[in-house]
Amino acid sequence: MITTDKTVNKENITILGIESSCDETAAAVVRNGREVLSNVISSQIDIHTVYGGVVPEIASRLHCENINGVIKMALKEAGMSFEDIDAIAVTKGPGLVGALLVGVSEAKALAYALDKPLIGVNHIEGHIAANYITHKELEPPYVCLVVSGGHTHLAVVKDYKSFELVGRTHDDAAGETFDKVARAVGLGYPGGPKVDRAAIGGNPHAIEFPRGEVKDSPYDFSFSGLKSAVLNYINGAQMKGENIDVSDLAASFEAAVTDVLVSRTVKCGIEYGIGTVAIAGGVSANTALRAAMKAECEKHGIKCLYPEPVFCTDNAAMIAAAGYYEYLAGTRDDESLNALPNLPLS
Ligand code: KG4
Ligand code: ZN
Repeated sequence: MITTDKTVNKENITILGIESSCDETAAAVVRNGREVLSNVISSQIDIHTVYGGVVPEIASRLHCENINGVIKMALKEAGMSFEDIDAIAVTKGPGLVGALLVGVSEAKALAYALDKPLIGVNHIEGHIAANYITHKELEPPYVCLVVSGGHTHLAVVKDYKSFELVGRTHDDAAGETFDKVARAVGLGYPGGPKVDRAAIGGNPHAIEFPRGEVKDSPYDFSFSGLKSAVLNYINGAQMKGENIDVSDLAASFEAAVTDVLVSRTVKCGIEYGIGTVAIAGGVSANTALRAAMKAECEKHGIKCLYPEPVFCTDNAAMIAAAGYYEYLAGTRDDESLNALPNLPLS
């Protein structure tokens, strides 16, 4: 049950954030939603790489093994003990159900044992809140493009806890497309950072890939056509015995992705009359996307923001940052808090 606490002490709130929705076990201590005192991330990437992608059962088991140590380290790096923490914020969804359950169970146990407030946080809202850590002056309203492995959302952030979902993907998420293209071209897992590096020095005009559109939905995205076009290009070249220039392919693919992401996001800023655009989620670490978004925003006099790379991909500081605004609003969860694998952006 979620209740509302109206007697919030608003001075110097220190939140312990916990994140375990996918393949990173993370804990962080954040003061007043913006000042990161510690940010510990235990990545499982090396283990999942063996299988070419995240294996949910392995992810859950590794979260179980690592979560206590990660939390201990986060407190140590912040120079704090559990007594110094005002509340515990944990990712409740969306994500892998078994993975989420580890963080949620841990947070519930800690909140009960320590008699501290418990706050379940939406992972997508966490990604958005990562921008508050890097941009201390940022306040709503602004437009935010959330591009991660599981989500592609274009939202107007009307207030810290109020979002209008303007556009979304109809098929693959942007990050998922990066991962699939990387695998097809032999770059391996995780695909996003590898495509990013491969594209540097490549010609973005070498191959004309389609820019996906969704009929009658000017803010929505579709990446499945682009993914198929890249796979067809690779198959065609292989059948003809032609060499593929991976750098040109990566740059051309990125150009197709960034064109649609940037044009819809900037259009949203212009049409809603909002002068600030932010990006968030793993794909917001992408070099080409950051550069293209910045350039297009500048053309239209729009401010363009993105988190530092470490706060783009999954981390617990962003969960503590979003949890802070829930805390201020008085949101409190109890022992009935559960993992919500399909939780939408509220
Ligand atoms: O936000 P995130 O860590 O996890 C989810 O919530 O899904 O995003 C992970 C996704 C993966 O698909 C990964 O390939 C992609 O973000 N990614 C990138 C880059 N770094 C991570 N995609 C493109 N360029 C990058 N530099
Ligand atoms: Zn994420």
